[in-house]
Amino acid sequence: MKNTLIAPSVLAADFANLQRDIEMINNSEADWFHIDIMDGAFVPNISFGMPVLEAINKHAKKTIDVHLMIVKPERFIPTFAKLGADILTVHYEACTHLHRTLQAIKVEGMKAGVALNPHTSVALLEDIINDIDLVCIMSVNPGFGGQSFIENTYEKVKKLKELILKKGANTIIEIDGGVTNKNAKQLVDAGADVLVAGSYVFKAENPTQTIADLKKITTL
Ligand code: DX5
Ligand code: ZN
Repeated sequence: MKNTLIAPSVLAADFANLQRDIEMINNSEADWFHIDIMDGAFVPNISFGMPVLEAINKHAKKTIDVHLMIVKPERFIPTFAKLGADILTVHYEACTHLHRTLQAIKVEGMKAGVALNPHTSVALLEDIINDIDLVCIMSVNPGFGGQSFIENTYEKVKKLKELILKKGANTIIEIDGGVTNKNAKQLVDAGADVLVAGSYVFKAENPTQTIADLKKITTL
C-alpha cells in the first residue's frame, strides 16, 4: 500500500489566525507543513520570512518542508536550519552551483530538495539526481497560490520517475500547485509521493476533512 504524503501549504492559511490553522494541520491527517518563502525577485510576489517561520515552528508538530523561491538561496542555508526546516528546497533556476548548494543543505542536517519551474526539463537532473532527496515539480508558475494546474505535469512526473529508477536514486517526487481531488490520484499513479495543497485545503468548508479525503484517494 502506497502512503502518499499530504503537505498543506501555509501560504493559503489565515495569517490572522495562524496558530489556529497550524493546530488544524497538527490534528489532521496531513504529513508535512509546506512553507513558501518568496523574495519578490525570483518570483513576482513576496510571502513571508524568518520571523513568521520561527512562529510557525513553535507550534508545528510535523515535518517542516521549506520551499525557497528566492535568488541565491545558498545565502540562507544555516539560517533555515536554525529556524526548524527539515527539508530545504531550492530552485534549479536559482542556483549556479547546485551541487555545492545541495551539499551545504545536507551538512546542516536537512534533506535537500530541488524545485523545477514548469518550463524546466527533468532531463536536466540526470547528473545530479543521486544527490537530491526530493524533487518538487511545479505544476503552476511559482509566486501565487490558487492558480490552475498545468496538465503537462503528468508527463514530467512519469519522466522523472523513470530517471530516478534508471539511476537507482532514492529521490521522492513532490507536486506543488493547483492540486485538488481532480488530479491527485492521477499524479500518484504517475509517480508522485508528496502532494502540496494550499487553496484547495484552506478554502474548503472543512479543511480537516479535505485533507483526509486527499489522503484517502491517494493511498492505494
Ligand atoms: C506557489 C507555491 C505553492 C502554493 C500552492 O508558488 O509554491 O506552494 O502555495 O498553492 P495552491 O495549492 O493554491 O496552488
Ligand atoms: Zn510551494
